[in-house]
Amino acid sequence: MTVLVTYATHSGATLTLAETIAETLTAAGVATEVVDVNEGPDPSRYDAVVLGTGVRIDAAEKPATNWAKTHREQLSSRPMAFFTCSGSAADPAKGGRQKAADAFLEMLGFSPVAVKNFPGWVIMDKIPVHELLLLKSMRTPTGDFRDLDAVRDWAQELAPLLRKN
Ligand SMILES: Cc1cc2nc3c(=O)[nH]c(=O)nc-3n(C[C@H](O)[C@H](O)[C@H](O)COP(=O)(O)O)c2cc1C
Repeated sequence: MTVLVTYATHSGATLTLAETIAETLTAAGVATEVVDVNEGPDPSRYDAVVLGTGVRIDAAEKPATNWAKTHREQLSSRPMAFFTCSGSAADPAKGGRQKAADAFLEMLGFSPVAVKNFPGWVIMDKIPVHELLLLKSMRTPTGDFRDLDAVRDWAQELAPLLRKN
């Protein structure tokens, strides 16, 4: 079996999480392919799918949402896992809930086998100048908040869930 690990990113954090998930699944004996969602991967070529998206202004990245809409039927007929990568998932006050994930799941219309909101990074050097003001106005804390061990733990849990057909 082969799992598609596809991702939408702006500043690269979601890609690092997708790669970590793919490496962990591969080590668990599950073959994976990591593909940018902008390349329009065809989910029907895979046995299972992991979709990850960065969060911008309380929403999933548009390419991730559009891809999921286009392929909804294929995605609902195979095991699918979903994760977000954001600044505020690092804030314990938000209890790991993420507005963007809730809205994405409502749009999707079915429940993936697993859902997780991971903290990513907010690194000013990686953000286009025209977005810096917006980000500053949102008072988002800056730094690298990724917890790759937590990502690996989740990927370990995913392996048996993605194998179910
Ligand atoms: C313009 C902009 C808007 C953002 N909006 C949010 C937000 O609404 N909520 C949040 O938790 N993080 C927000 N973030 C932080 C990103 O989600 C975080 O940097 C994440 O790691 C981005 O993933 P990426 O590097 O894969 O694009 C925002 C970042 C930018 C640059």
